[in-house]
Amino acid sequence: MDFTRLPHPAPVPGATREQAIADPGFGKVFTDHMVSIDYDADKGGWHSPTLGPREPIALDPAASVLHYAQEIFEGLKAYRLADGTMALFRPDANAARFNRSAERLAMPALPEDVFVEAVRQAVLADKDWFPAVDGGSLYVRPFMFANEAFLGVRPATRYKFLVILSPAGNYFKSGAPAVSVWVSDYTRAAPGGTGAAKCGGNYAASLVPTGEAFARGHDQTVFLDAAERKWIEELGGMNLFFVFDDGTILTPPLRGTILPGITRDSIITLAREQGLTVREEMYSLDQWREDAVSGRLVETFACGTAAVVTAVGKVAGHDGEFTIGSGGPGQLTQTLREKLVGIQRGTVEDTHGWVTRLG
Ligand code: PLP
Ligand code: COI
Repeated sequence: MDFTRLPHPAPVPGATREQAIADPGFGKVFTDHMVSIDYDADKGGWHSPTLGPREPIALDPAASVLHYAQEIFEGLKAYRLADGTMALFRPDANAARFNRSAERLAMPALPEDVFVEAVRQAVLADKDWFPAVDGGSLYVRPFMFANEAFLGVRPATRYKFLVILSPAGNYFKSGAPAVSVWVSDYTRAAPGGTGAAKCGGNYAASLVPTGEAFARGHDQTVFLDAAERKWIEELGGMNLFFVFDDGTILTPPLRGTILPGITRDSIITLAREQGLTVREEMYSLDQWREDAVSGRLVETFACGTAAVVTAVGKVAGHDGEFTIGSGGPGQLTQTLREKLVGIQRGTVEDTHGWVTRLG
């Protein structure tokens, strides 16, 4: 696909940009450009790939995304490596997951090479927007939504795919070494539902429990399974890992109700390579509490693109609260985090072909 390049009439002035990216936090600052590609079933599918200024998009009030939430997204990061080149971490995995989400939401697939090229074009256009802060990166948000004006309930025939970029620092406002999580009574995804898809609707449903967590002073919500209300699934925007005193690690299995995290997959690979036993098994809230109290469980960490690897220090719910280990980041959490971040930033050798350098 050849991208049309529209010149930007008024990019953000350098001094304003520098100020904006000095301490960007997460998801608040946006760059100059965006990529857009349109889909029309009546026009042979995907067409008009464009790299242009980031600008508001016009939507018909009947656009089906506004009514039936046919929307999916991805999240990945572009890094500036030690040698100055820019790189993406496993963009092919995001492209593949995007298409699995599309399939679940009855949306058209976008060829994986087009997804990766769109991300590449956007990042190269905004290469001056990498924040210099420690741990900083350019967070990439590709997404697709139905923009056909139609109120019947059926898959739309028209879609828009966009890529926007957001300079990012720490996901958690507190920047604390370990986060505190709230076990919600609400569930996120039921068997047969959309839990494994990265669709906006999943996040809309998580906002009340997340608001509850924030109001009680916690950083994230833990969701239990919808069928038995017993098994730990994941956090609102991260997967979970549990580390035991015998050195083994456990993470909830992919049963269709949690997001198959790319960080999760990478951590499993790195831990196994290190000789550790990683079990993908169900783990109950009761067992979590019992093991934390007995000391059999020594660490818990959350992982995801935005949050990287973050220790969970405290767990609270309607039945009271408990602390994990010392309440701060454990040894393995730190080792795995350093290894992953090192690969992402080019200071640890990438033996898996995970890092895609951008010219
Ligand atoms: N679980 C949920 C619900 C998420 O939103 C995310 C973030 O994308 C993850 C897990 C972690 O996925 P990944 O490691 O691919 O970013
Ligand atoms: C990510 O880690 O990329 C996410 O999408 C999690 C959250 C910010 C939605």
